[in-house]
Amino acid sequence: MAIELIPLPLPPSADASKFVDFGREVRGVDPGSLKPDSELFERVKDALYKHDALLFRDVKLTPEQQYALTKAFDPLSENYGHGNGKTQGTKKSILHPDLKTIPRVPQVQLIGNGTVYNHEGLAEAMLKHPSHTTFHKTRVSPEDEANGITRFYRWHIDAALVTTLYGINVPTGDRQLCRYDDGTGDELDVSLGTTAFVSGKTMFDMLPKDLKSLAVRSKVRYAPHPYVWMAPAHAMSTGLGIESEGLELPLDELPPWEEERRKDLPVTWKNPVTGNLHFQVHPCGAAELLVDALPAGASREGALYPDGAHLTDLKEVRELLYKMQRPAIAPKLVYPHDWRENDLVLFHNRGVLHSVVGAFTKDQVRAFHQCNLAASDDPVGPTQADIEAYA
Ligand SMILES: [Fe+2]
Repeated sequence: MAIELIPLPLPPSADASKFVDFGREVRGVDPGSLKPDSELFERVKDALYKHDALLFRDVKLTPEQQYALTKAFDPLSENYGHGNGKTQGTKKSILHPDLKTIPRVPQVQLIGNGTVYNHEGLAEAMLKHPSHTTFHKTRVSPEDEANGITRFYRWHIDAALVTTLYGINVPTGDRQLCRYDDGTGDELDVSLGTTAFVSGKTMFDMLPKDLKSLAVRSKVRYAPHPYVWMAPAHAMSTGLGIESEGLELPLDELPPWEEERRKDLPVTWKNPVTGNLHFQVHPCGAAELLVDALPAGASREGALYPDGAHLTDLKEVRELLYKMQRPAIAPKLVYPHDWRENDLVLFHNRGVLHSVVGAFTKDQVRAFHQCNLAASDDPVGPTQADIEAYA
């Protein structure tokens, strides 16, 4: 059977014209038996770079197969991609309580909700779907929550090149209404426990000229141990970053870190297959902005920071990033995946941002396998030609 790539089913809320290249369902391929160096694997990899998210339906996938598949996209990668070994060992990290690893294949995590019994060597696993009520500064009232009102939990990028998410138990339940609660009135109808995706390419493409120029000239300096650093702080109601209340853990109270190992990553990442630029910033972890001056010959008219800048005021940095990222999470630009059992979704963390959404009750048991191996290299930023084109 030949490989087939079919556009993903978009919800009525989506602006189809913005999803022409985004997402494909792959048919005719058994992802569990893909051989890393085969031509078929290369076709799938190419499709992932071109479309950012791939869906396989009715998949049977062991944890071993999922690990092998995930690793095939980045053979030099190892270990779980959310944070690093030091962070995993730190109780303070807000990622800590969400993780249960499969004993046989610790690179694969069991995530979900409710209590799961006799699962892949785990006698009993108590899972908790992340809730905005423990992370956001404000929360949906219990009455509204009972009526199906919910929020995006946290827009982010995994540290992996590719994340694989496999839905094993998908509880059915009423649809929920994801509210932005930021004064815009924006809201999005979603299936229970959807995973929401937005395109980093769209995020870049829709910026006005002055912000495109800023984006291609800027790098983000991330906080060391970002998930420990942000643990005492509260997120925005949209899940797109942190409120500036001065609650972050002081840098000298973090686990050991070295200044040289802090991550400075470009704001825009260049897709190696399409050449497109994607606006890829993890807003919660961003601490500073390093802006290069305009290249020689570029017009200074209307340019922001034409001589370059190093922005260290956290509130200012966050407000600038929010201004650039918020337009792209508008309801019409979000792909909320409507999970079915045995769906496997692969996504390219250098092309998309994603968020957990929704709230389950205790008796709604959900079990997913996630594999996400810390990328073996750093993303590549814009070329000099890109900078000259957009500056
Ligand atoms: Fe994630």
